[in-house]
Amino acid sequence: MEKLSSSIPRDLKLRIQNAKHVVVITGAGISAESGIPTFRGEDGLWKNYRAEELATPWAFEKNPELVWKWYDWRRGIIAKAAPNPGHIIIAEMEQFYPNFTLITQNVDGLHRKAGCKNVIEIHGNLWRVRCIREGKTFYLEEVPLHEIPPHCSCGALVRPDVVWFGESLDPTLIRKSQKALTTCDLLFVIGTSGIVQPVASFPSIAKQSGAFIIEINLEPTPISAIANISLRGKSGEILPALFKTD
Ligand code: OAD
Repeated sequence: MEKLSSSIPRDLKLRIQNAKHVVVITGAGISAESGIPTFRGEDGLWKNYRAEELATPWAFEKNPELVWKWYDWRRGIIAKAAPNPGHIIIAEMEQFYPNFTLITQNVDGLHRKAGCKNVIEIHGNLWRVRCIREGKTFYLEEVPLHEIPPHCSCGALVRPDVVWFGESLDPTLIRKSQKALTTCDLLFVIGTSGIVQPVASFPSIAKQSGAFIIEINLEPTPISAIANISLRGKSGEILPALFKTD
């Protein structure tokens, strides 16, 4: 494990500067410094709430009002949050690298708010809703919602357009991610516990294809074992340090 002191090793900076195709994977940790709770750990959402009562299709079928009340509460927190220096550096990376792919597990939309244009939101987006009858999706950004649970113009309920436990991810987004992972030369894995599939396996795909892997996290994760370098600390501090020109 490398400890980030006042200076970043020169060879690491050169590797970052000279990379051609970069992939970044982010998890809840990138948004923690914006005041958005993560899922696991001491103050994590899954410590105080039961996923099976709030984030499954069965929970929604049983009690859509309860599920929507929870999402309305989270939307309220996220609406007040601003992108932090970590999100901003990633948006700058998108401009800097000729080939750049961002895959996020976050549904908060903060990467787009920071200016990222092409984001693979692999777990969906909590500002988008889906009609349960017609399947059509649209953005519903009202905070707080005036109607809980909200309805589509066709009269049917809408649900958050996010991936719940027990549901499959969009195969088109998986294919797009896999293509980037097999062709990148540098992969950043930032602020994810690395235990939720299929994203947890994405770093191994890049590793097998020869990519150099940099992990940024407060603590060790299963990804640390395959990362070439693991930087311990806050992504909102480490990312700006990595890209600072001396
Ligand atoms: P977790 O809450 O599981 O993990 C957050 C990770 O971020 C932990 O490893 C922390 O150590 C790290 N972390 C916290 N603050 C940080 C900071 N300031 N800088 C760097 N790292 C920090 O979140 P995810 O791994 O994103 O899925 O969770 C994956 C999925 O599990 C989520 O997308 C969600 C959840 O159930 C669905 O809702 C489908």
